[in-house]
Amino acid sequence: MTDTVLETAITQIDAARAAGRVPVIRTFFDEPTFTATHVVHDPVTRRAAIIDSVLDFDQPSGRTSHASADAVIAYVRAEGLTVDWLLETHAHADHLSAAPYLQEQLGGRIAIGAEIRTVQGVFGQVFNEPASFARDGSQFDHLFTDGERFALGEMEAIALHVPGHTPACLAYAIGDAVFVGDTLFMPDYGTARADFPGGDARTLFRSIRRLMELPAETRVFLCHDYKAPGRDTFVWETTIGAEAAANIHVHTGVAEDDFVMMREARDATLGMPRLILPSVQVNIRAGHFPEPEENGVRYLKLPLNLL
Ligand SMILES: [Fe+2]
Repeated sequence: MTDTVLETAITQIDAARAAGRVPVIRTFFDEPTFTATHVVHDPVTRRAAIIDSVLDFDQPSGRTSHASADAVIAYVRAEGLTVDWLLETHAHADHLSAAPYLQEQLGGRIAIGAEIRTVQGVFGQVFNEPASFARDGSQFDHLFTDGERFALGEMEAIALHVPGHTPACLAYAIGDAVFVGDTLFMPDYGTARADFPGGDARTLFRSIRRLMELPAETRVFLCHDYKAPGRDTFVWETTIGAEAAANIHVHTGVAEDDFVMMREARDATLGMPRLILPSVQVNIRAGHFPEPEENGVRYLKLPLNLL
């Protein structure tokens, strides 16, 4: 079966490389959550996208703050960028999104994959969300479907649906670069877990194999890095060729069944991420907090003995 979406992405990446029209990318790494926020811009028009931003959250006190987001804002202003997009690769389980705060300060549209509706359905049940919690993705300004093309200034971009870690995961190919969210990590670290509600290791494998069809020179930007045994610096950029050659979980030649067995065995040993309960409640609302109660205070829930 021909994957026309993939062909479109390959054409875009090859054309960007051939013309030397490639995006400028500046990454802000949040060490408490190991998250890489990427600010991507078209150097000609200076139109920008911010991918996977972080809202600082102190769980013991329940306080949120903006130091990480403010660093991104300072960079955007210093560079004279216009933010068109606040992109989420998925509803993160390890940090809260700062997209609404960035939107207030910089503008731009908050977008995620259309399958977020499935994630909202699943977690709407987990948190027993009230009927007023919309499960149609309407908290976001835009929902991307697989193969949907968009622009960053004069630079071409395309959304690729890469489910497995979550049902809604997207990768965004912008110019010659692809932002893969939680699918692949650095070659020496491997792949994302696939055991959250709605996750599936076999689906993740197929999504990764699809990404590996992109040109070997494609620049790959990750959502996370956790270092790896023997490596003492954080790294968030690699290439499709490097992943295909050397990813310890899923390099070329690893069979689907072997990957699934490895991934499921490894996931069974992992504890839940420290911030999963607060993160998911906020991120399925596009980064907004739940409505305040009668006393004017907003609350997050902790379901007991459920996850
Ligand atoms: Fe994630």
